[in-house]
Order: sequence, then structure tokens, then C-alpha cells
Amino acid sequence: MSNPHENMDRMYRLQRYFYDLTRKYYLLGRDQLLEEMKVQAGESVLEAGCGTARNLIILAKRHPDAMFYGLDASAAMLETAQAKVDAAGVKNIQLRTALADDFAFDGTFGLSKTFDKIFFSYSISMIPPWRESIENALKNLKARGDLFIVDFYDQRDLPSPFPRFLKWWLMKFHVRFWPELIRYLECLDSERTVTVTITPLFRRYSFLAHLKSTS
Ligand SMILES: C[S@@+](CC[C@H](N)C(=O)[O-])C[C@H]1O[C@@H](n2cnc3c(N)ncnc32)[C@H](O)[C@@H]1O
Repeated sequence: MSNPHENMDRMYRLQRYFYDLTRKYYLLGRDQLLEEMKVQAGESVLEAGCGTARNLIILAKRHPDAMFYGLDASAAMLETAQAKVDAAGVKNIQLRTALADDFAFDGTFGLSKTFDKIFFSYSISMIPPWRESIENALKNLKARGDLFIVDFYDQRDLPSPFPRFLKWWLMKFHVRFWPELIRYLECLDSERTVTVTITPLFRRYSFLAHLKSTS
């Protein structure tokens, strides 16, 4: 049976060294997400699938009075992330190896309270148990907390043959847009457990979803 930790380690063993440089040009919408999170002093924020901690380091520098947590399936990726956190000199980031569908605020991070904010930045498209991961994130979120997802969308408004080329390219990295994902988020909204806002970005290249928990 395939092991997500080993799969991700295999994929990122070499890529982690040039990851930030290359992804800068096509993981679009990440900076907009970081702006829209509106982190407050004293809050705790988790990134699920944090990779090299690029997003966490930006946030930790911007909000020295908040705490940031990152989890990732790949221990190799987190080794690079920890080196970058140390080089940046930020003290308010903690990293753990864990799966998005199987972490807990207390067991994984030793916290006594659930998170104020959780986000997935270009990780949900790599996680086959994406539903379970979103459900687990909501379980680990405080009442009236915020969950954000930024990731590839369906590219429907981009000129042909770009969408087909992009899909082919992303499959090489085990990345895909889950066709049922947006419908699933809308259903969560209609069940009234969360209110959901979905914003298409760059002619549906990517999307930014904001889920506000109602209870
Ligand atoms: C494309 S990278 C994005 C990294 C970072 N979030 C960013 O925006 O630069 C996706 C990350 O998700 C991690 N990942 C994949 N499957 C995962 C899972 N089931 N649980 C946790 N992390 C996972 C990968 O190891 C990788 O570091």
C-alpha cells in the first residue's frame, strides 16, 4: 500500500532545494491569501502542507505577536523548512511531520486550544483524502474560526490549449483539481456549518476559498 510520507519524501528529496524559486511563478494567489487572512495578535495559525514554510515565514515576520504552526507529510521538506525558519530568525513557528487528515491540535502540537485559522496553500490538490483533510481541519478550528484554501481551479476561462497543457504538467507532480471539491464546499455552506466564499483568480487559473465556521 502506498505511504503518503514516503511518496512526498521521494518527490521532494531534490525538488526542495529549488522549490521556492520555481513555484514563485505558478503558485498564484498565495500572497493574496496571506493578505486576506488578517491575523490578529495572540492568534494561532496552522498551515496544512506547509512545504518549505515560505508562507509561514512571511506571516511570522508580519505578525510577531501571533503563533504559527506548520505540518507536512514530507520530513525531507520540513528539514528544508526548518533551515529556512532558522535562517529567517523567526521564533514563532513550530513544524511537525503529520498528515492533513490525521493531525490534532493537542496530540500533534501539544496545544490546549484549537486553531484560530487554518489554511491549505496548493496542498489540497495533492491530497487524495481531501474531504477527510477538510473535515479534520474544521474539527481543529475554534468556533467562528477561519479556514482558507488556495489552489488550482479548472482554468475554464483560459485560452486553449493552456488548460490541457497545465493538467498534463501538474499530473507529473501528482497535482490535480478535484472536480467535486467546489460542490463539496458549497454543500458545507448549505448545511450551515460554515459560510463559504469562493473567489476565482486569474481567469480561473486558481481559486481562493474562505470558510468561516458558524459554530
Ligand atoms: C505544492 S506544495 C505547497 C507548499 C506550500 N503550502 C506553499 O504554498 O508553497 C504541497 C505540500 O503538501 C505536502 N503534502 C502532500 N500531501 C500531504 C498530506 N496528506 N498531508 C500533509 N501534507 C501533504 C507536500 O509534502 C508538499 O510539501
